Amino acid sequence: MKKNLLFLFLLLPFLSFAHENKAFWGETGHRVVGHIAEQYLTKKAKKAVKRILGTESIAMASTWADFMKSDSLTNAQTTAWHYVNIPDGQTYAQMQKNPKGDVLEAIDRLVKDLENKEVSLEKKRFALRFLIHLIGDLHQPMHVGRAEDSGGNKIKLKWFGRDTNLHRLWDSDLIDHQNLSYTEFSQAINSPSKEQIKLWQSTNHYAWAEESSVLAQNIYKSVKENDNLSFRYAYDFNETLKMRLLQGGVRLAAVLNKTFK
Ligand code: ADE
Ligand code: ZN
Ligand code: ZN
Repeated sequence: MKKNLLFLFLLLPFLSFAHENKAFWGETGHRVVGHIAEQYLTKKAKKAVKRILGTESIAMASTWADFMKSDSLTNAQTTAWHYVNIPDGQTYAQMQKNPKGDVLEAIDRLVKDLENKEVSLEKKRFALRFLIHLIGDLHQPMHVGRAEDSGGNKIKLKWFGRDTNLHRLWDSDLIDHQNLSYTEFSQAINSPSKEQIKLWQSTNHYAWAEESSVLAQNIYKSVKENDNLSFRYAYDFNETLKMRLLQGGVRLAAVLNKTFK
């Protein structure tokens, strides 16, 4: 009994660390994106993914980059890969780049690792899991937010009376509010038209970041610090939320199909 208590006590700081540093679509969001992508893969891409991930599904691989955050060494080198902050009135091409990297350059680098025959299977597993995760992050508008508030992390809000912030609202609160499993959520939104699929897959990740940036600007305008948000907010942004998750899935498939063609 004493031993168990001691163990819990030692674990406590890590638990709170994991909670406060939650800077990604929550697990359900990532899994929805991954689960949808699985349904739009070419035979060739499916085979290549299976060779790298084995029995791990894309949905389950999608959250591995979050678990990596408990490895502080890897975390320090990869935290900046999860987002990009594009200053108002500038484009990505014009802006000064973060020397620690960003989600767009990380995607380019990881795709190159996956295309390179010389790269080891272990390194490819890392690259594929991370790539799956980052295509999801890129579609979360607040991952292309402002630098000064850390993509909304510093904008305090209440969600049904409980403390949250603007970033977390979009990573997980709005998604968890649906009260659906990732398979149920995927099924509920996975009916894009052929035209939508074609249109969404016709652009690249630089354009997807611009879309997130435009959405983020609108999201910033939608709240004031310390607002207590609830049903009305969920209703107002329901279509945007569902669209970004669906686009994330359809486009993740496009990236994988192109990488493994
Ligand atoms: N997560 C942590 N810092 C961030 C930032 N500056 N922008 C977006 N997401 C973040
Ligand atoms: Zn992330
Ligand atoms: Zn996030």
